[in-house]
Amino acid sequence: MTKRLGLSTIAIHGRTPHRGADWTPAVTPIYQSATFRNPLGSDADVLYTRYGNNPNQRAIAERYAGLEGAEDAIFVASGMAATALAHLAVLRPGDHLLASRWIYGGTRTLFDTEFGRFGIEVSYVDPDHPRAWRKALRPNTRAIFVEALTNPLMRVVDVPAIAKITREHGLALLVDGTFCSPVMFRPLEHGADIVITSATKYLNGHSDIIAGAIAGSSSVIEEVTRLMRLWGPSIDPHAAWLTERGMKTLSLRVERQHRNAMAIAQWAATRPAFSAVHYPGLTTHPDHALATELFSGYGGMVGLMMAGGVEAAQRFLAHLRLVTHAPSLAGVESLICEPRLTSHKGVGAEEREALGIPDGFLRLSCGCEDIDDLLADLAGAL
Ligand SMILES: Cc1ncc(COP(=O)(O)O)c(C=O)c1O
Repeated sequence: MTKRLGLSTIAIHGRTPHRGADWTPAVTPIYQSATFRNPLGSDADVLYTRYGNNPNQRAIAERYAGLEGAEDAIFVASGMAATALAHLAVLRPGDHLLASRWIYGGTRTLFDTEFGRFGIEVSYVDPDHPRAWRKALRPNTRAIFVEALTNPLMRVVDVPAIAKITREHGLALLVDGTFCSPVMFRPLEHGADIVITSATKYLNGHSDIIAGAIAGSSSVIEEVTRLMRLWGPSIDPHAAWLTERGMKTLSLRVERQHRNAMAIAQWAATRPAFSAVHYPGLTTHPDHALATELFSGYGGMVGLMMAGGVEAAQRFLAHLRLVTHAPSLAGVESLICEPRLTSHKGVGAEEREALGIPDGFLRLSCGCEDIDDLLADLAGAL
């Protein structure tokens, strides 16, 4: 087989499917084992689950590398561990990291409270001012970090334009692709060096495990692996097995989630109870053209601003029956949350307002339910 396989096929069979021996399982078994028998006298790398070389860990890493079009990939115990290790792999004491201001609150807190301890400076840029990136570069800037589709305003960051700057200046470009999934956007094909994802979200897709992944060149993944072996956040074999099972239906789930999100965004845009609807599939969204150019689909996440503020948001949430009031996203079940109390809790009210996420803002993660039932639930709660 020489033709590059499609994403659904890679997600199900890996990028180099092979015919297994007779009577072997069709599905990877769970290797719930910390360690593996060593051949006597062998000086080969030992198999040990903290090392990331348990067969369940390798099976999903190989599959994810295929989905992102990367040389290699590695899974770790959470999206936060993936973000931390990916940055520590490319940054050294004295380096400066230039980050998008529109990022997950947990990542922002990691940068602001922890990176200083390693002698790494971090500063922020509003990504809708393209010239600001160049202006913000310092002599010690070593890397740029962005989220491709931002949380919770669903703004689209122009990754190819930023990749031009990182190439010119010899910097590393790290992209968190969590909100997109590789079905929608593959940052490495647009000039990024490293892609980070919270596999808790679309890759697994069932809201039942915590996991993260990093994909990039073999040398970057080798360095991340070295750090993972020392710092220790490897993924448990059972979580890895569930991730493999989840990944097999990635394309199917994401296609349905995108369709549901578009229908909900179009419906919400006609309701006066919402003063703004943030969804890049709407022609009124400021990044609609960029999303159309860069992405396959517009995503499964919708930002809803309640015209009546916090009180209206609370009333609306209290009357939902199907859509679950919970943080996190991208599972088959629809989830809704208030970023002021969840992803952006660590960011002060003033900065939240400045970021365009005032109180009364709701973030809806569209699941795979029947659209008529979702719309009936949302309309009933209004
Ligand atoms: C964009 C983004 N990146 C990273 C993370 C962290 O992922 P995890 O919760 O798996 O550690 C999150 C969590 O919500 C996220 O939304």
